[in-house]
Amino acid sequence: MIRKAVIPAAGFGTRFLPATKAIPKEMLPLIDTPVIQVVVEEAVAAGITDILIVTSKSKEIIKKHFDYSPELMAILEKKDKALFESVKKISELANIQYVVQPEQNGLGDAIRYGRTFVGDDDFAVLLGDVIMKNSVPSMKLLCDVYERYKKPVIGVEQVPMSEVVNCGVVDPAPFEAEKDIYKSKGMVEKPSVETAPSNLALTGRYVLPPEIFDLIDKVELNRGEIQITDAINILCKKQTVLACDKTGVRYDIGNKITYVKALVEFALEREDMKDEFRAYLEELLNRKK
Ligand code: UTP
Repeated sequence: MIRKAVIPAAGFGTRFLPATKAIPKEMLPLIDTPVIQVVVEEAVAAGITDILIVTSKSKEIIKKHFDYSPELMAILEKKDKALFESVKKISELANIQYVVQPEQNGLGDAIRYGRTFVGDDDFAVLLGDVIMKNSVPSMKLLCDVYERYKKPVIGVEQVPMSEVVNCGVVDPAPFEAEKDIYKSKGMVEKPSVETAPSNLALTGRYVLPPEIFDLIDKVELNRGEIQITDAINILCKKQTVLACDKTGVRYDIGNKITYVKALVEFALEREDMKDEFRAYLEELLNRKK
């Protein structure tokens, strides 16, 4: 069983400046819940009990969010039971630890700070700025695939060919045993439309073996960063790595327009606001015609 997850959340978030000058992008709210909490909840729904969040020196606020807050709880207990429960559960979600990535040298470098925490176990990685929308939590689907085949597995989604230039893209080979799963021959970061091996883009969800840390040590800076895809490419040459499609729709919260789309789509599904919000959107669109 996969019990441990590493959540990298130490990046600068430059695409979302100036909002991310003082506030980590992982703390941007998906309506009323910070993105990083949504990510932690996805991990917990997959059966993960131990989480390491990789932060930077300026992201202490992430730790604060998951800490127990006795003063606030005392007030809410008297005032609003539902809010009391929703705040209480935050500090009880999982056993969460933190490590600081001193320099922002890329995703591969951030994951490397999980080495001691992970030890000899296979483990999950969930990007702290990506949320997934799916009927079954995305990470749970990947953990189930891992349980069936005991192989590393990477979440992918089909994107329009014009979008591959912004994504990590998998070079797939058929996997006879199951539909929507491929063997990964390798992957490329941000290929051109002409050279992309497929339209299967990485979603930011992985189940990896602990050997990945030695492979990260071997890769060199690529476009100024240690890329996790370079380490996984070496892994693909050594053993079967699976890629699983159909784990849901990915929202990269670090991208402004995707963030706005996520807000709208999640609001349209929330029981407490969907009717009022839909009516507002319809009225707004009519007005703008
Ligand atoms: P991104 O590449 O989307 O994050 O990394 P970024 O570098 O913050 O983005 P921009 O381009 O400057 O806007 C995906 C995830 O990996 C983390 C980020 O915090 C994000 O959750 N990350 C990235 C690290 O933890 N450390 C890094 O050095 C880079």
